[in-house]
Amino acid sequence: MIILETARLLFRRHEESDLEAYCEMMADPEFRRQSGGKPLSREEAEESLRLIIDGQKNWLVQKPMGLLATILKSESRYIGRCGLYANRDENNVVIPGEGTLAYYITRPYWGRGLATEAGQAFIQYGFKELGLTRIVAGANAANAASNRVLQKLGFLWVRSGEGGGNTWHDYELSNM
Ligand SMILES: CC(C)(COP(=O)(O)OP(=O)(O)OC[C@H]1O[C@@H](n2cnc3c(N)ncnc32)[C@H](O)[C@@H]1OP(=O)(O)O)[C@@H](O)C(=O)NCCC(=O)NCCS
Repeated sequence: MIILETARLLFRRHEESDLEAYCEMMADPEFRRQSGGKPLSREEAEESLRLIIDGQKNWLVQKPMGLLATILKSESRYIGRCGLYANRDENNVVIPGEGTLAYYITRPYWGRGLATEAGQAFIQYGFKELGLTRIVAGANAANAASNRVLQKLGFLWVRSGEGGGNTWHDYELSNM
């Protein structure tokens, strides 16, 4: 089931058929370095996709929150995961009406504006379909592309902080 669509992309739940492309993406050291993690072995990536697919079973049918399989329409190819997930406070309690934007695009497709296109679609979806009032996002200070995407999407810088040996920038966008 297609949940959201843009000019070049469509977004749907993850499926077993995404396995090869998902494992390839998660084994890429540069992709994983930007995401703040280590490359995943085949076994680890298979387990990770299994958890994603199982987690989706709890989603509401019509309007799910979560990172969706991102398909490049012209190639019918899985190229990553993008979407919104719940925002939580310092006590790990979900903040009603708020979402966190995230995007992960596999490396051969970087630099084509696809993360920005996905981000625009999920901002619209979050505010209009999910009724969110605020969307937040965070990016490693060393991840210039991710920070740039957030700026292009109109996010405002809120604060910077340290975590896990990295410096992070936090951003927000409010539904005016
Ligand atoms: C971050 C990521 C999603 C960007 O995806 P993308 O589709 O290439 O992004 P876009 O093409 O929409 O925009 C990238 C922007 O960053 C800029 N950029 C890329 N690398 C850069 C660098 N090293 N320094 C400065 N700007 C850079 C691009 O020029 C572009 O800006 P522009 O349109 O003004 O020219 C992708 O690199 C990725 O998936 N990385 C691994 C996962 C990750 O880091 N996700 C974010 C977690 S917070």
